[in-house]
Amino acid sequence: MSVKILGIESSCDETAAAVSVDGRTILSDIIASQAAEHGKFGGVVPEIASRRHCENILGVVKEALHAADMQLSDLDGIAVTYAPGLIGALLVGTSFAKGLALSAGLPLIPVHHIAGHIASNYIAHKGLTPPYICLVASGGHSLIVEVKDYTSFKILGRTRDDAAGEAYDKAARVLGFPYPGGVHVDKAAASGDPSKYHLPDPKVSGNDLDMSFSGLKTAVINIAHNAAQKGEELDKNSLAAAFQQTVSNALVSRILTAAEITGYKKISAAGGVAANSGLRSLLQSECEKNGMECFLPPIKLCGDNGSMIACQGYYDFMAGKRADESLNAVATMELE
Ligand code: KG4
Ligand code: ZN
Repeated sequence: MSVKILGIESSCDETAAAVSVDGRTILSDIIASQAAEHGKFGGVVPEIASRRHCENILGVVKEALHAADMQLSDLDGIAVTYAPGLIGALLVGTSFAKGLALSAGLPLIPVHHIAGHIASNYIAHKGLTPPYICLVASGGHSLIVEVKDYTSFKILGRTRDDAAGEAYDKAARVLGFPYPGGVHVDKAAASGDPSKYHLPDPKVSGNDLDMSFSGLKTAVINIAHNAAQKGEELDKNSLAAAFQQTVSNALVSRILTAAEITGYKKISAAGGVAANSGLRSLLQSECEKNGMECFLPPIKLCGDNGSMIACQGYYDFMAGKRADESLNAVATMELE
């Protein structure tokens, strides 16, 4: 018999729900994105995010069930992102899922948002099984993760300050692109010359797999200011290309080192920045060169979505993870 899980995600600015079958197959995937509204403020406004989740969540869940041609009684469990993220945003999804699970008499499965991002690869790549190394690069996290099993993780490296996506958004702002800026930097980089500008290497002392992206923003600001002071025109496309190359090199070199240390021959990437064309092509070519398998999520599953929660919810369900009515949302929580 197949296991059907409804996944609910509301940790940031997407209200999302999806239905999975046996983890790997997605029957429906509905997202109400608030990105355009937050864009007016240059970033996510937590208070607005909570209100929009509150308005949208019932409709999104109803639509996900309808698109999957299912009733609540057809489900085996309800999975929800409960950590980490914006607390007010997480509370909407968590409270809603608790009420729904209670009224339907279904098990409630608490899902870690980062575990969800990692699971997005299982949907597209039916043959991907742990153990492997995963690069998680999103707006809030930059992690090199050893995926020991579907529900067991070890963090091998992380950013000491800004996340890769945060760095993209900050650089985008300096270059005059709207929020969220990563995708605009990606497009601009396509017609730039990365060798035109020199940016600092995001390395740090201590752990070779750790990184620091905060200096990159300062370097981009300085280059823009210097050009303005000298009355020179800033070559935005080339600065975007240099930035993208620096971030991609930093992330890819660390993931390859992690694979070397652990001896794994499988690598995957996840999170919003995994949609970056420069990162994807560098990761694929380096994996090919080093005889490793490379698994990348389809672009639509890189950002926050319900499918990844429905998928990870299945593995957490099979591992016996359950929550009761005391489940609370948690803003900060390690994956391990
Ligand atoms: O995973 P995600 O949707 O949300 C979080 O959990 O944080 O990641 C959003 C981040 C944003 O910083 C956005 O600018 C970045 O992913 N992003 C990109 C691209 N598409 C989205 N960064 C670089 N290149 C892209 N193509
Ligand atoms: Zn995310």
